[in-house]
Amino acid sequence: MQQVLTYLEENEPRFVRELCDYLRFPSVSAQSSHRADMDAAARWLVGHCQSIGLHARLCPTKGHPVVIARTPRNGSTSSRRRRHFLVYGHYDVQPAEPFDLWKSPPFEPRIEARSLFARGACDNKGQHLAHLNAVEAYLKTNTDLPCDLTFIIEGEEEVGSQNLAAFLKKNRADLRCAAIVISDTGMPDLNHPALTYALRGISALEVTIRGPSRDLHSGIYGGSVDNPAMALCQLLARLREKNGRVAIPGFYDDVVPLSRYERRQLQRVPHDDAAYRKFLGVPKLFGERGYTTTEQRTARPTLEINGLTSGYQGEGSKTIIPGWASAKLTFRLVPNQTPQRICELVARHLKELCPPTVRLTVEGGHGGEPYLVSPTGPLAQASLRALKAAFDREPVLLREGGSIPILTDFKNILSADALLLGLALPDDNPHSPNEKFSLEAFAKGMRMSALLWQELAG
Ligand code: BES
Ligand code: MN
Repeated sequence: MQQVLTYLEENEPRFVRELCDYLRFPSVSAQSSHRADMDAAARWLVGHCQSIGLHARLCPTKGHPVVIARTPRNGSTSSRRRRHFLVYGHYDVQPAEPFDLWKSPPFEPRIEARSLFARGACDNKGQHLAHLNAVEAYLKTNTDLPCDLTFIIEGEEEVGSQNLAAFLKKNRADLRCAAIVISDTGMPDLNHPALTYALRGISALEVTIRGPSRDLHSGIYGGSVDNPAMALCQLLARLREKNGRVAIPGFYDDVVPLSRYERRQLQRVPHDDAAYRKFLGVPKLFGERGYTTTEQRTARPTLEINGLTSGYQGEGSKTIIPGWASAKLTFRLVPNQTPQRICELVARHLKELCPPTVRLTVEGGHGGEPYLVSPTGPLAQASLRALKAAFDREPVLLREGGSIPILTDFKNILSADALLLGLALPDDNPHSPNEKFSLEAFAKGMRMSALLWQELAG
């Protein structure tokens, strides 16, 4: 085992260079102009996996391809008993816009003070590469890897993983496993490695208000027809109370209240409201009364407007009543809310509120169920030991606010839970300009992964 850890240390500079190579692919799944880049990134990954000794292949789907890479299975009888784990990650990244807010171009990786800046650095290329590096260390030092592993790295996580469930169903037999190891979440800081045991779900929808059949002169007609932009603002304003509580009848019906035990655990997560406020650049924090910031952003459901469009957005002024207005909304959900039910409740409420002077349409988008698993099981406990050994610090248990919708499919199709061992730091800026990944987290993550297989092998 020492050989594996030494290999990881000695090869760290090369691992960083390889991560930079991987980050140079602008693998933006949401933008069709990046189709070729998506393919190139997936092919690079297959090649990389093969070069470290994995059996890797590119698997086409209706959307972007999935990369599958398996550790060599030695055919002996004892090997049939070995536990099998999946390691999940995604090679797609969020769009890098707005480009002008990046200190250096998003797809030209730059290192500054042990941080690697690039789109996709922490979300998620750096995180799953840490696991690949750990396996490389086992294979290249001829150290017996005590478990069988299958890497499943998809290209559609950032657009809702629409085609992965079908892939899992088709390959169910090969993918049967004890658990899925995922590093695609975060930790409070380098002194607090974390096991995340809950994520919020999500329900996305788009609301459109249509008024006159075309944009109208606001002087000639204004006062006699409703304004779709105003009608939409008025509707949306009624969906949420001033402090963030969602004002949709039935919205909280299925919410499981936080237990006292859980609230105590969440208190242990290091957090400083003043520093947090400053980091985010807001004049004052906001949120549902009676809950701490940590609870508000990880364990309570929310409504956000993600985008709002109507009327003239160009230079100067234009005096019109816009013909239509639309908004993209997402709700973050907690157990036991479901995206379908929430979508129904929202649509029904909006229809009730909509005035007769405009027409409303609500289009349901992607969704994902909230995720929660007990952190007391043997595999979770084994992961905590690996975290502790790699970071030399006592790990914390986290709930987190983001979503990984595919976890429910893993659970339903493969009957397996996820071990969420995130390596992103709170200031890593995923989805924002100047995304980064800590090279310290990268190095510790590789160690953690190497030790994890020993702990999980049982
Ligand atoms: N890695 C994130 C999810 C995440 C972030 C979990 C932080 C916990 C903490 C993932 O890549 C992501 O961004 N997911 C999307 C899902 C959506 C597109 C359905 C999200 O949460 O917005
Ligand atoms: Mn993401």
